Amino acid sequence: MIPINAPHIGREEIEAVKKVLESGILTSGLGTGPMVREFEKKFCRFVKAKHAIAVNSGTAALHMALLVAEVKIGDEVILPSFTFTATAETVVLTGARPVFVDIDPHTYTIQPEEIEKAITQKTKAIIPVDLYGLSAEMKAIQEIAEKHDLVVIEDAAQAHGATYHGKPPGFYADFACWSFYASKNMTTGEGGMVTTNSEEYAEKLRCVRTHGEKEKYTSVLLGHNYRMPEIEAAIGIVQLKKLPKFLDKRRKNAETLSKKLGEASKLRIPKEPRGFGHSWYLYTVRLEGANASIRDKLIIQLKERGIGIGVYYDPPIHLMPFYRRFKRRKLVETEKASKQVFSLPVHPGVTAKQVKFIADCVLELL
Ligand SMILES: Cc1ncc(COP(=O)(O)O)c(C=O)c1O
Repeated sequence: MIPINAPHIGREEIEAVKKVLESGILTSGLGTGPMVREFEKKFCRFVKAKHAIAVNSGTAALHMALLVAEVKIGDEVILPSFTFTATAETVVLTGARPVFVDIDPHTYTIQPEEIEKAITQKTKAIIPVDLYGLSAEMKAIQEIAEKHDLVVIEDAAQAHGATYHGKPPGFYADFACWSFYASKNMTTGEGGMVTTNSEEYAEKLRCVRTHGEKEKYTSVLLGHNYRMPEIEAAIGIVQLKKLPKFLDKRRKNAETLSKKLGEASKLRIPKEPRGFGHSWYLYTVRLEGANASIRDKLIIQLKERGIGIGVYYDPPIHLMPFYRRFKRRKLVETEKASKQVFSLPVHPGVTAKQVKFIADCVLELL
């Protein structure tokens, strides 16, 4: 089976982990061991942010950003439903209410006009998601946030290497939250990062990461244990160095697929609008006019041929049993997209021969 995504770990990562184990420094009480500090410094440079705070998952990154933005019970946070559960789950964990709004049917990212319609007296923050690795419309979102005095937390968990008008994720946000889960464009096994250009936010994020402490055993804020272990940071340093090559390969595979699949009239291939640089975390196509059963039948046939298809996301969050209680409006585009999309493997381990095989199978089965 060609997996939809896979980690790419080599000798260098193994050596880096060995070195950490031999050093005996596995973590640091305040979350600032030597590997973590080096990883944060290098990640800052990569995403052109002033501060980077490494944590143990992308979910922790989102939760921490929400806590530092002082999102709490009684507040509302606007976000898409067409995303991974963690985006909404962390809002609920703060006690705030997630307010789901619809997506653009071509880019699958949150629609700025829908954000404006959903703003109330209680709105505190917006979480745009750079879905599949394509940036949300960040300039428009930042303008809305400024007008209504809202915090922007960009969910960049899928967007390592993405650009928006030449800028990396986080440029038009108060916080950007990243994931280094094993399937991501770069991995630390599990792991995450928050980046910000605010000194004040950065200081609070460092506290919240480790029980709200600035010094050991003296909490000044409500915190958690969201520290990144040294082993993870050591893997992250190596993966970050390899990331440009990984991204090149993803792009090459995506472009080959687009060239071949472009001829299929029933299939909508993913867009990279002008001014946007896709990170190609997921190459997501759409079966126009289909319902879920037609789409799912095609997926079964592709899987039978050894192609690891993924569906991101069906159901969307607002239709999940736990999250139905937060449903306010019908999300027409989200619900339609969730029944028609599916993603094809483009990760760096997919060879040119496999890309051709994937495209040929899709065209034949269509
Ligand atoms: C859009 C999005 N947000 C948040 C997360 C959460 O990241 P993690 O799995 O590292 O907790 C993910 C990762 O799967 C994601 O894809």
